[in-house]
Amino acid sequence: MEQSRLWLPYAQMRTAAPPWKVVRAEGVRLHLDDGRSLIDAVSSWWCAIHGYNHPDITRAVKAQLDQVPHVMLGGLVHEPAIRLAQRLVEITPAPLTHVFFGDSGSVGVEIALKMAIQFWRNQGRTSKTRMMTLLKAYHGDTTGAMAVGDPVEGMHHLFAPLLPRHVFAPSPRGGFDAPDNVVRDDLDQLAHLFAGHHEELAGFIVEPLMQLAGGFNFYSPAYLQGASKLCDQYGVLLIFDEVATGFGRTGSLFAADLAQVCPDILVLGKALTAGYSGHSATLATDRVYDAFLGDDPALAFMHGPTYMGNPTVCAAALAGLDVFFRDDYLARVGRIQTLLRRDLLPLSSPKVRDVRVLGACGVVEVHDPGSLIGLQQFAADRGVWLRPFDRYAYLMPPYVITDDDLRQATAALREWFS
Ligand SMILES: Cc1ncc(COP(=O)(O)O)c(C=O)c1O
Repeated sequence: MEQSRLWLPYAQMRTAAPPWKVVRAEGVRLHLDDGRSLIDAVSSWWCAIHGYNHPDITRAVKAQLDQVPHVMLGGLVHEPAIRLAQRLVEITPAPLTHVFFGDSGSVGVEIALKMAIQFWRNQGRTSKTRMMTLLKAYHGDTTGAMAVGDPVEGMHHLFAPLLPRHVFAPSPRGGFDAPDNVVRDDLDQLAHLFAGHHEELAGFIVEPLMQLAGGFNFYSPAYLQGASKLCDQYGVLLIFDEVATGFGRTGSLFAADLAQVCPDILVLGKALTAGYSGHSATLATDRVYDAFLGDDPALAFMHGPTYMGNPTVCAAALAGLDVFFRDDYLARVGRIQTLLRRDLLPLSSPKVRDVRVLGACGVVEVHDPGSLIGLQQFAADRGVWLRPFDRYAYLMPPYVITDDDLRQATAALREWFS
C-alpha cells in the first residue's frame, strides 16, 4: 500500500483507520478519491481561513513562482518580504514595529523565546532565562515550544526529561466573561509567582483569550490586562502567541485588539499564509528591537531558518490580507459566531460538559473522551470533516463558509449528541 511509507501525525499507525485521500480542494470542500466531498469544518488545523484554492491567492502564488520562488534572507532581501513586514506592522498594534520571519508556528514561538532571553542577556541580565507560562497551554511541537506547553495534561509530557523547566501559572478560569472576583483570584496567584520568580523570568508567554490545543479554554480580557501590568511591574516581557487566534479567529483581527493589550512580542502563523504553506512572523516593539543594536556583533539576534521570508509564501500572505480586508472577513466571523451560538449553545446531553463559542470557534466539551469515538465517521457520513480530540469536538470553519454549509456542520454535531 502506498500509504504504508507515510508516517502520519499523532496516529497509532497500527490501528489508525486508513486516512482519506484528498484529490482536489476548492472553497470549503475537500474532494476525496472515492468521489465524496466534505465540508472542512476545521480549516486544516485552523489555517485555511480562505478555504482552498482561492483564485486571487493562487494567482499571486503562481506569479511569484515565475519570478523568485525562493531566496535566502541572509544578506539578500526581496519585495514580498519587505512588503509583508510593512503590512504586518500596519495591521498589528502600533508599538509592534519589526518583523522576524520563521517557517512554522512552532519556530515562530522558538524565535520569540530566544528573542526574550537574548533581550535581557544583551543588557547583562543573564539570570533571566526562564519563562512564565500557563497550564493548558499549547505552543507547538518543537523542543522550546513543548517546554512552555502544559507539562502534565499536554500531549508532550513524555518528553519532560528533555525540556527546560519553566514556571507554570494556573490556567485562567471563568471563560471570556469571567466575573471580576475570579479574575482577581487568578491574578493574585499570578502575582505571587511573579514575586517569587521575576529575577529569572525573561518572558510570560500566553495564547491570548483562547487556549486551544491544550484544552479550548477561553478567558477574560481583564486577565490579560492584569498580566500585562504585572509584566511591567516585574520587568518581564509579555509574549502573545497568536498563531491560532490571529487573523480574526476571536472575532477581532488580533486577540490583542480585543483584549486591548499590546505585547512586547507577538507571534503569528497558520492563517498568516492563507493555508498555502507554513510560515510565521514574530513581531517586536522598538524597545525589544533596540536591545539588539550596537557596535558589538554579538548583540545580533542569533537565528535564521533557511526558508524564512520565502517569497512565495509572502506573496500568498499579501494576497490573503488583501482578500481579508476587501471581503470584510471580520463581518463574516461575526456572522459565524452568531450561527455557532444559535446552533450549538442550546445543545444539551448528559455526555456534554460545556459548550462555548467565541468568534469563529465553537467547542463542545464532553465528560468522557469515549463519547467522541465514531464522531469523525458519523460527521463524514453527513458530508462534514471534523477532527475531534481528547474531550473536545469543535468547529473552526474557513471564514468563507456559507450559512448553509455551516448549518450542515452544526447539524452533524447536534445529531450526534441528540
Ligand atoms: C497557539 C499555537 N502556537 C503554535 C502552534 C504551532 O504551529 P505549527 O503547527 O505551525 O508549528 C500551534 C499549532 O497548533 C498553536 O495552536
